[in-house]
Amino acid sequence: MKIKIAPSILASDFSRVGEEVKRLERSGADYVHCDVMDGSFVPPITFGAQMVKAIRPHTSLPLDCHLMVLHPETHIEDFAAAGADILTVHAEACDIPALFKKIAACGVKKSAVINPETPAEKLFPAVDEGADMLLLMSVHPGWGGQTFIGETLKKIEAVRNYCVKAGRPELDIEVDGGVTEENVGSVIAAGANVIVAGSTVFKAKDMAATIARLRG
Ligand code: DX5
Ligand code: ZN
Repeated sequence: MKIKIAPSILASDFSRVGEEVKRLERSGADYVHCDVMDGSFVPPITFGAQMVKAIRPHTSLPLDCHLMVLHPETHIEDFAAAGADILTVHAEACDIPALFKKIAACGVKKSAVINPETPAEKLFPAVDEGADMLLLMSVHPGWGGQTFIGETLKKIEAVRNYCVKAGRPELDIEVDGGVTEENVGSVIAAGANVIVAGSTVFKAKDMAATIARLRG
């Protein structure tokens, strides 16, 4: 499967985020991962649809928006209008089938995510509902720069096995949090093919070389 790298702008310089997404594109990133946090579903607040709209003209890369918010159903139209290409909603925060209908009606790709403490099985209905991507958190959401939670690997395997059984062996499985050049090989071997990386990419001396090495 094609490995896609989705650097998170959470680790970028917010004072010049337009330049930062251009740098990602020049360096070979596949997606721009946008971590939206509302101060309720997770303690920090980052940014919302206005930021997505602001960066939209600066890149042709798909904007992969991870909504760490309560009541994501109230924000779908705004993010779609802002130019989001993929909207990922937490199974802990919403009814996935209802949200997927709403996201699809806006013409955006739909994705579901689970936290580290949520069992892998909670993502299975999203496969049956026609998910375009699945996301597994490998840290507790809210902050960049945390350590990868090793138990995630078994969950990735379980989700990939389910996708195969369900007749969707090529479904994109994304992993988010604590991914480094050292552990990315095990993440890919477990069955993930979309790799979020914040600190690893933005702290790199050579962003393009780091993105290339993250492909495993
Ligand atoms: C955590 C975010 C992640 C985070 C990843 O809540 O969803 O996308 O920014 O950052 P690193 O790669 O630094 O763990
Ligand atoms: Zn994220």
